[in-house]
Amino acid sequence: MKKFKKPLLLIGFMGAGKSTVGQALAEKYKGKFIDLDRLISDSEGRSIPEIFEQDGEFGFRIHEYNYLQQALEDYDIIATGGGIIAFDKTFEYLKTVTARIIWLDAPFSKLYERIKNDSNRPNAQKGDESAVKNLYLSRLSRYNEIAFIKITTKDTLTQTLSEIENVLFANDQH
Ligand code: S3P
Repeated sequence: MKKFKKPLLLIGFMGAGKSTVGQALAEKYKGKFIDLDRLISDSEGRSIPEIFEQDGEFGFRIHEYNYLQQALEDYDIIATGGGIIAFDKTFEYLKTVTARIIWLDAPFSKLYERIKNDSNRPNAQKGDESAVKNLYLSRLSRYNEIAFIKITTKDTLTQTLSEIENVLFANDQH
C-alpha cells in the first residue's frame, strides 16, 4: 500500500545515487520504493543493455514513459533513470505529474568515477569521459526545470538524507 501523500521522484544523472537514496528513504519512512529501471527490466524480462540493443534507445524511452505512469500510481518513492528527461514526451509528462521531484547531483568527476566501469549502463559506455560529460551537461537544464530542489550526493548518505528530510519536513509532505 502506498503511504505518502505525493510520490517522491528522484531524478539526476547516472551515478547520482538515486537508488541508494530512494531505498534508504523507503526503509526509514516505510514507503513503497521502486527503481524504474528495475521495473522495466523485470516486466520486460530483459536487462537494460538488452533492451537498448534490441529496441534501441528510443524503444527504451517508450518503455520508460509507459512504466513511469505505472510507478507513479503504485509507489511512494521512485528512482528514475538518468535519461528520463531526454525523451520530450516524458519530459512534458513530468511537468504535469503530482509528485515531488528531487534532483540528486554531484560533481561530474564523482559521478563518472561511480559509473565508468558499469557495463549495465549503455550510455556511460558510449564514448570517452568527455562524451559522457557532454551528455551530463546537455541534461542539466531539464533536471533543473522540473525539480523543486537539488540535493548534493557528493558527501555521505547520512548527509544527503538529512538534507532531504529538511526539505520534506519543512513542507510537511512525506
Ligand atoms: C540511462 C541511465 C540509466 C538507465 C539507462 C539509461 C541514461 O539509469 O535508465 O541505462 O541515459 O542516463 P541510471 O541513472 O540509474 O544509471
